[in-house]
Formats: sequence, C-alpha cells, structure tokens
Amino acid sequence: MTEKVVIFDTTLRDGEQSPGASMNTAEKMRLAIQLEKLGVDVIEAGFPAASQGDFDAVREVAGRIRNSQIAALARASKEDIDKAWGSVKGATHPRIHTFIATSDIHLEHKLKMTRDQVVEAAVDAVKYAKSLTDNVEFSAEDGSRSDPDFLCKVFGAVISAGATTVNLPDTVGYAMPDEFGRLVAYVREKTPGMKQVVLSVHCHNDLGLATANSLAGLKGGARQVEVTINGIGERAGNTSLEEVVMGLYTRKEHLGLTTSVNTREIHPASRLVSMITGIVVQPNKAIVGANAFAHEAGIHQDGVLKNRMTYEIMEPEIVGLSTNRLVLGKHSGRHAFRQKLTSLGYDLLEKDLDRVFARFKELADKRKEILDEDIEVLVAEEILRVPDIYQLDYLNVVSGTVAVPTATVKLKIDGQDSQGAGFGVGPIDATFNTIAKMTGTRSRLVRFSINAISGGTDAQGEVMVRLQENGFVALGKGADPDIFIASAKAYVNGLNRLEYLKRNPSLSAEERGL
Ligand code: KIV
Ligand code: ZN
Repeated sequence: MTEKVVIFDTTLRDGEQSPGASMNTAEKMRLAIQLEKLGVDVIEAGFPAASQGDFDAVREVAGRIRNSQIAALARASKEDIDKAWGSVKGATHPRIHTFIATSDIHLEHKLKMTRDQVVEAAVDAVKYAKSLTDNVEFSAEDGSRSDPDFLCKVFGAVISAGATTVNLPDTVGYAMPDEFGRLVAYVREKTPGMKQVVLSVHCHNDLGLATANSLAGLKGGARQVEVTINGIGERAGNTSLEEVVMGLYTRKEHLGLTTSVNTREIHPASRLVSMITGIVVQPNKAIVGANAFAHEAGIHQDGVLKNRMTYEIMEPEIVGLSTNRLVLGKHSGRHAFRQKLTSLGYDLLEKDLDRVFARFKELADKRKEILDEDIEVLVAEEILRVPDIYQLDYLNVVSGTVAVPTATVKLKIDGQDSQGAGFGVGPIDATFNTIAKMTGTRSRLVRFSINAISGGTDAQGEVMVRLQENGFVALGKGADPDIFIASAKAYVNGLNRLEYLKRNPSLSAEERGL
C-alpha cells in the first residue's frame, strides 16, 4: 500500500531568504497561485514578524488561496505568533509554524538558554499557537546537530502541548543520508505521542545532500517534506521540490510513497521562480535544467530514437515540458494567441492581451519560430510593466579586443528626447553607466543574469536585473535577440519600476508590484 507524503513548500519563506531573491507581494501572489495549481499541500508564505511587507504579503496570499494550507513562520514568542496568526487567520486552512533551536551550539552561543528553558519556551509557544488554531507545526532548529534524546524530549513536550506536525531540520546541511535516516527513525520510535502527529523533515543543501537526506528521512518514517522550487534558499539552498517529487514518482516501487503534486506543473513553476527571482537554473540541474532531457552523445540519441526508455527514466511531458514546443508564427491571429496563453496558464485582461499580442507580432516579424518560453517572457515583461518614465529609443555599442567599450544611447525621459554616450569595462557596463548618467539615477545593480530562452544562435536573450535604491528594490526584465539591447531594456525597465516606487510611496504592496 502506498502512503501519502505532505508537500510543504517554503519557496516564499526559506526560498525568499536566498541572497537577492526577495519578492514583492504581487510576485508572491503569482507564485502562490502557481504553487496551488501544482498541488502542494502547504504553502509557507512568509515570516510575518520580519517586516510589514512580509506580513502584508502573507495576509494577501492567505486571503486568495483556497486549496493549499497557508503557513506563517514565528519564533517561539507571543509577539511573533500574534503576527503570524494575524496574517494567516483569513486563510481557508491556516497553519502557525513556530520554532526554536535545540542544539547545544545554538543554546550556548545564540539563545543563551538552558535545555529546560528551551523546552518551556517551545511548550509555551505551541500552547499559545494552539489557542489560536488547531493546525500547529513546531520545528527544532538545528535538529540534526541536537542530542537525539533531547530532541525526543522537546518533541514529546510539544506534542502534549498540541503540535500536529513536528519538523526535524538539517538547518546547516551537515547530515549524511544514512545518519539522518537513522535519526528520523529514532525520534519517531522514541518520542511519546509521535505516531499521532506528522513527522516532517527540512534539509539544506550545503553538502549537496538535501534531496538524499530528505528521502532518507522519508524512509525513516517522516511523512512531510519541506522543499522549495528549484531548491532556492539560504546559502546553498533547500531541498528541491522537483527532485523529491520526481524521485518518489519515478521510484514508487522502491519507496511506496506518493504526493498530490501535479507533476505537469513543475516546469511552469520552475520557470516562474526563475523569472521572478532572477535566479537562473543551472543547465545540468536535475528535472528542470535546460539539459535535463537533452541527449547529446550520438550513441544516446540513437538509443532514444529506438526506444526512449534506453536513456530516459522520465518522460519530459510528465514534468510539463511539451515536446510540441513550436507554437505560433507571424500569421497566427489573436484567437490562436489567446488559446496558446490559456494553455500556458495565463488568463489576461483584454488590455494586457493587446499589449502582449502587439509584442508577439513584433517578435514574429523578426523570428520564424516563436516558442512557449518566448511567449512567457513577453507576458512577464508586459505584466511587470509600469508607466514608462524612461524609454529606450536607440542603442549603439562598440566593443572588441582593441576598442574601448563605448555606448551611445537615446532615451525619452518623461517624453523628452535625451542623448548620451559613455564608457565602461565592457559593453554592458558602458550601456548601464550611460543610462544611469542620463537619468541621474544611483541604483545599485544587485543581480544581473542572462539566459538564452531557447536553442539556436537566433534565440532571444532574456536579461534580468535587480536594482536597489533608497531601500526600494525592483526587478527589470528585457528580452531581445540582441543581448545588449535585451540588457538595456532590462535596465530601463528596472529603473522605471524603481522610479514608480519612489514617486508612489503610499501605494499598496499589490499596486507597487504591478
Ligand atoms: O532551516 C531551518 O531550520 C528552518 C526552520 C525555521 C524550519 O528554516
Ligand atoms: Zn531552513
């Protein structure tokens, strides 16, 4: 008989703690909608005590999502728990997730508390959370480096206090799979009351073992696994959802465990996380990397053509990669375009559709083949659009082995023509320096990433920039077959978004994200 594993997605909380991955409310909402479509059981939407922005984002997600449970994280304190509850109480299925560290290293150096004090704080926190909701999760931070018998004591005490899920994290990614599996089995066996609650695992990837440790934890008896899309998260990241889910799916006869995830939504979710955070997936990443299903070697190609099972353990369609990826061309009409958008999961307002369709026609004039990925980028660019204060009219760059990289730029600034030129260490630096000088902006470039949207030398380059100025952070995107133009577009888009935030400081978080 197969048992079900609860998939607890923490992309919006632990994933958002990746350097440079912070998301605004509108971005969190788009991702939460995709996570619900993906069929995750629990969405951890944020850490409301961290900031007002986090609180607002969790509250808005909680008010919109109906099928998945919505969890909010809280330290083991009344104030944090009040904020967590304030943010999730409007959810159809709310959960409070409270935590305190249990390892001696954390007790001595960080908390400066004795073991008895930690047990008391954990119990008080769970009791208080339980007075607000039935659905309470407790996590023993740095659990894998804690004394196993102390862990059992803490877990036993919080279960008596009303916790319905207890989570054993490998917070620093230190555990080895056999060791972690044994620890989970030990805790499951020795903790009073454990069989009445859900035991969970939460692993980090510092030694590249997060997926292996999570699967070992499931073998040891855990029935919830905490994961993020693309494995994003603190430092080297968290366990990646797609790896665990596809491991359980592909080897069900080995593990005997299932999930409620609609695996066909994995690839769209992965793309969305990359588009929103600007964190590009490495090409050889399992399941969602660009090369995950690419067969390069002749002998492999030959085998796959004879029978896919020779070198493919999963069908790409199962994770949402369509094999029929060639979509529309320049003769495609608005109706076909709308149908394509619907099949990709986008339900656009008429005015948004007009803009995206116009951009599609422009691109179709330049390129013969328009792929799903191209359309996704156009949608992302147009939906992220704010009123243009700056518009790119013209860009000319000079660079090469002997030339000093130079950019000549023409912009419209609040409708007025402006022209400038400047140097840099490379053509993109020259372009950005020139645009910054012309617009009088002083933003810091926190992240820059460039990605070929599809194969071929005529592929569109997709550039994402993350800009920071005066406490505001904005993501800018641009796509073009010419990567210098794509970079300039992304930079100008980011500056527009920053300027919009600065000029409208009183807008709601949702409005600011648009
Ligand atoms: O890694 C960790 O220990 C955490 C807890 C808060 C669950 O993220
Ligand atoms: Zn974590």
